Amino acid sequence: MIFSHEIYMFNILIVDDEKNQREMLKGFLAKKGYHTLVSSNAKDALAVVREEQIDMVLTDYQMPGMTGQELMQEIKKINPFILVVIFTAYGTIERVVTAMKSGAYDYLTKPIDLDELLIVIQRGVDYLHLVEENRELRDALSQRYSFKNIISGSGKMEEVLSMVSRVARADTTVLIRGESGTGKELIAHAIHFNSLRAKCSFIKVNCAALPENLLESELFGHEKGAFTGAIQRRIGRFEEADRGSIFLDEIGDMSLALQAKLLRVLQEKEIQRVGANSSLRVDVRIIAATNKDLEQGIKEGSFRQDLYYRLNVVPVFLPPLRERKEDILQLIDFFQEKYNRQCQKQVKGVTKEVRDQLFKYSYPGNVRELENIMERAIVLTRHEYITLRDLPPNLISDLQEKDLALGYIGSDPSSLEDSVLALEKELIDRALRLSDGVQTKAAESLGISERVLRYKIKKYQIGN
Ligand SMILES: Nc1ncnc2c1ncn2[C@@H]1O[C@H](COP(=O)(O)OP(=O)(O)OP(=O)(O)O)[C@@H](O)[C@H]1O
Ligand SMILES: [Mg+2]
Repeated sequence: MIFSHEIYMFNILIVDDEKNQREMLKGFLAKKGYHTLVSSNAKDALAVVREEQIDMVLTDYQMPGMTGQELMQEIKKINPFILVVIFTAYGTIERVVTAMKSGAYDYLTKPIDLDELLIVIQRGVDYLHLVEENRELRDALSQRYSFKNIISGSGKMEEVLSMVSRVARADTTVLIRGESGTGKELIAHAIHFNSLRAKCSFIKVNCAALPENLLESELFGHEKGAFTGAIQRRIGRFEEADRGSIFLDEIGDMSLALQAKLLRVLQEKEIQRVGANSSLRVDVRIIAATNKDLEQGIKEGSFRQDLYYRLNVVPVFLPPLRERKEDILQLIDFFQEKYNRQCQKQVKGVTKEVRDQLFKYSYPGNVRELENIMERAIVLTRHEYITLRDLPPNLISDLQEKDLALGYIGSDPSSLEDSVLALEKELIDRALRLSDGVQTKAAESLGISERVLRYKIKKYQIGN
């Protein structure tokens, strides 16, 4: 069924050298709610097609200068999706056959039967809707498929993914930011495999893992004899990534000297192997990631501002897990399935207490930490459901500490100082118990000196 607002969006161009015919059609279609434009010759018609968003062209076959069929062929060069309907005089069926063969959408014989015309147009509207729907469906499918390993239960993550799918195809440099374990590498993968470069290599380099000189030859390669130990020419990762993408992980840890070299690559799109005299052109898309505060790095002089601007063309921020708790439950299910498969287990789920604890926890290690917790629990558990005992002890104690803290503060909110003192006493007491009364150990676990610890023990009269 066609709704009126959709009819208005369907633009029809009428091309006919006979004024009366043009006007009649325009008037008739306007009454039926269609938006139309008119041209009296092929040349004008092509100009309109170039400038306007036209969905269908109704053209006469016989016109001075160019036939309707020739016009159709020119139109298709500009926009192959425009539907062209050709009007022919009665008895010229061969023309119709060739026109249809060369891509006309339909034809009508003159004099035009207006009811028939309406049917043809409505079929065109439906057809374009189908094409559009189909395209959207395919897009959605390919998106779901290629992002199938990325969980997004929260609006924040949905936003990230929609940004990622848009940016993937744009071929621009991308800078992915986020705390450790938030999924930066996962997103870098998704960008590459959803880009036009997907069939070429995705090369990953961890800029924090190698000392400066090694990293340089890792990235750009070296010539034989470039330095002691360079017994053979080596192809660098940039060259390997040619026509594909390079993922520069932990870019914030790159030395200033290498930053300068990388900047040159970004500007010139050329690399120079260590020890080489000439440069090589490379066509590489750069996807960089860091958990460092680059803006602070710029202020402190440890990160080049010009490189920052070159990299930060499209920034993608991955929020920490504690700021998108809606993702937690879906991630639990996702990892449960993943590790059931990997460990050949059949764990059915987590108990309510576990779910609550996992929901409350703050995840300094973000998604990776949750993943590790789930993996460990699935390996350890002897039951169908993961219980509190399958969670790491530090997680439970971290949560208890928070409850404890809140308990003190909650007990008498009017006196913050008393609460803090009581909490401090409790923590010292516990640290001493956990270290079997060994003060050196207790002091270390609390991050204070032994002298301060002794003073506080006395102050709170602990152990008396
Ligand atoms: N949204 C998500 N859905 C599913 N798995 C995720 C998601 N985010 C992260 N992970 C998983 O969490 C783990 C850590 O992710 P990743 O290595 O991409 O993080 P990172 O930000 O690069 O961390 P680091 O800064 O420590 O290098 C990976 O196993 C990854 O597959
Ligand atoms: Mg990483």
